[in-house]
Amino acid sequence: MLVEFEKVKMHYKEGTVALDDITLSLAKGEFAFITGPSGAGKSTLLRMIYMDEFPSEGEVRVGTHKSSSISRKEIAMLRREVGVVFQEFKLLKELTAFENVVLPLRAVGRRESSIRKRVNSVLYSVGLSAKRHQFPLKLSGGEQQRIAIARAMALRPSILLADEPTGNLDPVTAEQIFDLLVDINRGGTSVVVATHDIRHAEALGKRVIRLEHGKLVGHGTEAAGDGEDEPCTT
Ligand SMILES: Nc1ncnc2c1ncn2[C@@H]1O[C@H](COP(=O)(O)OP(=O)(O)OP(=O)(O)O)[C@@H](O)[C@H]1O
Ligand SMILES: [Mg+2]
Repeated sequence: MLVEFEKVKMHYKEGTVALDDITLSLAKGEFAFITGPSGAGKSTLLRMIYMDEFPSEGEVRVGTHKSSSISRKEIAMLRREVGVVFQEFKLLKELTAFENVVLPLRAVGRRESSIRKRVNSVLYSVGLSAKRHQFPLKLSGGEQQRIAIARAMALRPSILLADEPTGNLDPVTAEQIFDLLVDINRGGTSVVVATHDIRHAEALGKRVIRLEHGKLVGHGTEAAGDGEDEPCTT
């Protein structure tokens, strides 16, 4: 699904301007990083894509959905198309890996037989088949994030959003998670990752959108602009 921000300004109730005049588009199947210092507006931008926050001015369009006119029912439909993962995984600790991934499928009323098949397949694709009956707290951080990614992918979303998905992980595990996200993107899902980890982001040679104080810095369309071993094309 195409994502478009048109002259989006957003301030929270307290008055903090979180995003200021953001115009950008993310193509279907694109991989993009959102970087910038703490408080720059990265999480806010992601929340606007799954319409958990709305512009104060301007418009966000995701596929056929428009922030200016979307209904509650339509938001529920949109969220089937947008998977989300977070820094702190947000798994239910009293449920096994398998049971965590079942949740979104059951929520949309899938038949039990098809649920089992899909959960096994998506856990396999994140490399966690062997540990599918473990409880989250018995798994490493990287494994917990894989379950969270599997859960986000269960409904085959068009877009996967990840907010600091490697913030709680060591550098080696972080790299494996980035590789998994790249893999998912190769399968056709758009992926948008908010991260402080500019080094990893640039190493992957993907588009980097930089925010500072809620504004886009640069034109936000270059892939790995200042990577040392990237040829300069401009
Ligand atoms: N729920 C909220 N209520 C009020 N202000 C908020 C809220 N969430 C964020 N903000 C403010 O909006 C601005 C942007 O916050 P946001 O969380 O989007 O930044 P961020 O780039 O994700 O930061 P970080 O790297 O620390 O996660 C900040 O000034 C922040 O204090
Ligand atoms: Mg954030």
